[in-house]
Amino acid sequence: MVHCGRSLNGSKTRRKSTTKLLTRELSLEEGSLTDHLVESTSDVKLIRDELMNILVAARDTTASLLTFMCYFLAIHPEVLKRLREEILTLVAPGESPSYEDIRSLKYLRACLNETLRLFPPAPNNERASVKATTLPRASPLEKPYYMPGPHTTIIYTFLLMHRRKDLWGEDADDFLPDRWLDEKRVQELNKDSFRFLPFNAGPRVCLGKDFAYNQASFVMVKLLQNFDTFELRQKQDAPEGAVPPEFWKKSSGRAAYEQVWPRSAITVYAKGGVWIHMGMSRSRE
Ligand code: HEM
Repeated sequence: MVHCGRSLNGSKTRRKSTTKLLTRELSLEEGSLTDHLVESTSDVKLIRDELMNILVAARDTTASLLTFMCYFLAIHPEVLKRLREEILTLVAPGESPSYEDIRSLKYLRACLNETLRLFPPAPNNERASVKATTLPRASPLEKPYYMPGPHTTIIYTFLLMHRRKDLWGEDADDFLPDRWLDEKRVQELNKDSFRFLPFNAGPRVCLGKDFAYNQASFVMVKLLQNFDTFELRQKQDAPEGAVPPEFWKKSSGRAAYEQVWPRSAITVYAKGGVWIHMGMSRSRE
């Protein structure tokens, strides 16, 4: 992952990088992201902005996905069991999964997708018009939407779109990885690339999408090779204020029964963290 805060927090590493810069150019395989930034510019503000950009876009998003995936595994032990079985069947104990292994772990991908659907790490997005225009109609019976311009903004919320019953079915609120293995449902989904949008779609689709799937899959494989029970201990161990407020129980949708408190600050996170006790597997490496 990104070697964050190395050179900006300590001059030691920066000096080391500068030495490298003076002697020879770094190859693509060498050094950290910070080293390469330092090599390409001496503008500290630009380096800081680039790092902040990648930390939010790449680190926080993937951390959010892994956090909520662990939460789901803790409250759905049957999914955890099935996922472990898939992983242990394909990847030998102590071994790391290859790229090909990761592609073959279909249930793992289904669990990741289902987590991304219910808790898309980037829950909102926004677009602005360059000039006055119209937005396409949802059906021929509707009129096109007029969008004034320039600079009119429109915000859309993946988190809500991903829970729409008219798009995802009556079970839209439920964590059901199997929906991603159901051929009929997947065919329906593939008709419209803007229905499942954790990475957005179109020309500005996330550049790190494949990397994120790979990295999250790798972490989950290593985790499940070693741990076989996940117990959610939000009520017992989390700091005060980490469980959703009482009045949520009267709301509709997942809010009525969610056991962690999802919040959003650019990316989705759980207030006070998600507290899980993981039991180490006897058959581990
Ligand atoms: C689960 C993990 C991730 C999620 C959910 C995610 C989601 C997104 C979303 C929603 C966008 C906005 C696209 C738009 O505005 O149309 C985006 C953009 C971007 N992401 Fe990711 N991302 C993830 C991981 C990563 C990783 C690991 C990297 C880099 C290694 C990365 C790099 C980028 C970059 C550079 C952009 C800007 C693309 C552009 O504006 O053209 N992302 N991502």
